[in-house]
Amino acid sequence: KKSEAWSALFSEPMSDLVKRYTSSVFFDKRLWQADITGSLAHAEMLAAQGIITTQDHASIQKGMAQIWTEIESGQFEWQLDLEDVHLNIEARLTQLVGDAGKRLHTGRSRNDQVATDVRLWLRGEIDLIGELLVDLQKSLVEVAQKHVDVILPGFTHLQVAQPISFGHHMLAYVEMFSRDAERFNEVRRRTNRLPLGAAALAGTSYPLDRERVASTLGMVDEQGHPSVCQNSLDAVSDRDFAIEFTAAATLCMVHISRMSEELILWMSQNFAFVQIADRFTTGSSIMPQKKNPDVPELARGKTGRVVGHLMGLITLMKGQPLAYNKDNQEDKEPLFDTVDTLKDTLRIFSEMVGGQVNPATGAKEGGITVRPEAMERATLKGYATATDLADYLVKKGLPFRDAHETVAHAVKAAIAHQVDLSELPLAVLQGFNTSIEKDVYDVLSLRGSLNARNILGGTAPAQVLRQIARHQARLAN
Ligand code: ARG
Repeated sequence: KKSEAWSALFSEPMSDLVKRYTSSVFFDKRLWQADITGSLAHAEMLAAQGIITTQDHASIQKGMAQIWTEIESGQFEWQLDLEDVHLNIEARLTQLVGDAGKRLHTGRSRNDQVATDVRLWLRGEIDLIGELLVDLQKSLVEVAQKHVDVILPGFTHLQVAQPISFGHHMLAYVEMFSRDAERFNEVRRRTNRLPLGAAALAGTSYPLDRERVASTLGMVDEQGHPSVCQNSLDAVSDRDFAIEFTAAATLCMVHISRMSEELILWMSQNFAFVQIADRFTTGSSIMPQKKNPDVPELARGKTGRVVGHLMGLITLMKGQPLAYNKDNQEDKEPLFDTVDTLKDTLRIFSEMVGGQVNPATGAKEGGITVRPEAMERATLKGYATATDLADYLVKKGLPFRDAHETVAHAVKAAIAHQVDLSELPLAVLQGFNTSIEKDVYDVLSLRGSLNARNILGGTAPAQVLRQIARHQARLAN
């Protein structure tokens, strides 16, 4: 016996292939909590408006409570025949409470129902992602704090440029992730609006109180006023909130991917700047000496798949006429996979970078290991203080362009003698410019160079400490 809600009109049943092709229940069942929550808010409003009786409302509540338990405990029988999560739950409700279950769908369509469910579900996920982003930023700030005075080469074009503080480098990522968090918050605001009441596409003739439902579901703006989609066609058909969420997730993954690339590079024997804990690496089945940075490599790789989901969703939307089209059923798998990939990646990175709390000591252990000597050695190799020498000459009165040229000659000489600028004798340096005095060695040291960049946003340890304090205060609440 066929159980579809529209079967009377149809002269032949759906083939099994078409059923499988059109059904979404095996992935959209993940929306079940949002579906039940949305239905309960709708039913409560139907009763308050006198559209259904309070007895029917009570029956719906009772039935939904049982369905919730059944699904939670894994006893619910999901049926492919019933197409999606919405029809599965509604059919079970009717089985449990009879006509009251059939009245639930009054003034509602699956079109506004599914749009509501996805928004409710995504709102919850955005909140979880926000917490994970705070954890990751805290991990990075902790690592920064421990290594404010560690000096590594800052690169441009991957060529040694100027000495920087490792703490400063970590805080660059904190800035990126804090902007990601802002973006997710903005997406949350636009996601948290109610489509219900739009019905199939044109609104409904029942006297629904949409604002009541919005308030019940916590779909409210900053002032606490209900947030309701203001055009029924738009409400059921646009998935821009899912697209912009995926765009924000893509940027966040891109930030993770850049950090991954650096970790991979830094773990290479040729750098040996850092080591990550063994549990984030794997060995090789043939080369006994290998410890491969699989986790950062996978994160870099998974970024590609999230980028793909963004392209998929945008392309899904671009040709759709108003209002709802079944194309939109295809929004779920990319969206779900984006959320899963991002959450797992954020979790694993917090731990890989910051370590894990040891319950016995309460201290974090097993985070990233930093090798200050290797970093410093690499900085000394690259004439990273050449700019400092040029700045020194400018302070002595040389125009910057001339100073730049003079220092280029000095670097050339140092390369020829295979020494650092700071190792050139004073007499040799004075050969390039007579105004050079003994105090030049203060600016040619890595630490002197670092301390000199004492400007807002600069790498001087004093500035880095200020930024750490700012982030700690921001992340504390
Ligand atoms: N499973 C559908 C989706 O994900 C629910 C809405 C179906 N509406 C419809 N008129 N067929 O979009």
